[in-house]
Amino acid sequence: MRILVIGSGAREHALLVALAADPAVTELHVAPGNPGMVQATAHDVPVTDGAAVTTLARGLEVDLVVIGPEVPLVAGVGDALRAAGVPVFGPGKEAARIEGSKAFAKDVMAAAGVRTARAEVVDSPAELDEALDRFGPTWVVKDDGLAAGKGVVVTTDRAAARAHASACLDDGHPVLLESFLDGPEVSLFCLVDGETVVPLLPAQDHKRVGDDDRGPNTGGMGAYTPLPWLPEGMVERIVTEVCEPVAREMVARGCPFSGLLYAGLAITSEGPEVVEFNCRFGDPETQAVLALLESPLGETLHAVATGRLAELPPLVWRDGAAVTVVLAAENYPATPRRGDVIDGAEQPGVLHAGTARDADGRLVSAGGRVLSVVGTGADLAEARAEAYRILGGIELGGGHYRTDIGRAAEEGRISIPG
Ligand code: GLY
Repeated sequence: MRILVIGSGAREHALLVALAADPAVTELHVAPGNPGMVQATAHDVPVTDGAAVTTLARGLEVDLVVIGPEVPLVAGVGDALRAAGVPVFGPGKEAARIEGSKAFAKDVMAAAGVRTARAEVVDSPAELDEALDRFGPTWVVKDDGLAAGKGVVVTTDRAAARAHASACLDDGHPVLLESFLDGPEVSLFCLVDGETVVPLLPAQDHKRVGDDDRGPNTGGMGAYTPLPWLPEGMVERIVTEVCEPVAREMVARGCPFSGLLYAGLAITSEGPEVVEFNCRFGDPETQAVLALLESPLGETLHAVATGRLAELPPLVWRDGAAVTVVLAAENYPATPRRGDVIDGAEQPGVLHAGTARDADGRLVSAGGRVLSVVGTGADLAEARAEAYRILGGIELGGGHYRTDIGRAAEEGRISIPG
């Protein structure tokens, strides 16, 4: 099977590593890719241009295109490929609105009877102060557009909440104010093919930049899987109470979902409540989740893309745990510095994101999240130790990472509000 992966982050690098391990996969391509993706041949195409991606896919005679990031999905690249008869893993433009428009997602959840935070859309500065008075503290302020996690501010400081909302409105984006959901967060990725839903292992992201959840939100600084604190049966409950009703609602609306539905949830005293949906694999959780997947990924994604997910045998997972830690550039998430030399990245378990080669062929930073390091082990403690051991051998001027990925879970400090 020949596969083209669209994207250039550590998530796509993790996909390529897992695809390369599938004996049915004979050839891997990536666009645009990054210097670490040695598993694939890189191609330079504008990834939001459906016609250009389709021309590349047909020219390469691939059997499957896997679209990693949300931007090409929301732009309708999946539709262009499907129209040309190319199997694609990832939803079309209409279904991708589950991530592209938070207001659309709320509407789907209301119709599907799925529990989520109370929310109001504010689209004019004149409405803002009264709306803020109806929420908080704690305030949750979201940019109603694609913001890769960085468009969300969660704060007990009303002035900070107001400043973020005003900035979004000044940029011409509506703002979503939400009630705060009290409980540990879970990312549950589900393969979805119409009404068929198959969950992957649950994971937990660490969104704040600093240890102990301090500092601003980022695209994600690290993740671990599975979740030792998650009650037995909770994954099945999330599937039946959240993901299946949403999948059925999407079918009923005439925009069936095909691809990866990412449910971001808080586990509250009432059970799972949705924080957000994304229409693609999450980053960095994917790097940990795929490290434990034993089933062949190429065949699995191809089955989703060709409407055969229900025919697949159950997914098989390795025992143990996986942890991924993100190495970020100086000044991430604000304005990350680029061009710093990276040493020691040529090790198993190192996935590339914001990297490039400079004029002298040296590996340098080229984005905010530079590398994702993945450790696996018999349990969370071993997996953490392995991830940090690998990270200890890497040098990046000004680089920073969290030292506590998975630590609260390892120490048994995560609990669900009673
Ligand atoms: N883990 C956050 C995201 O993928 O959006």
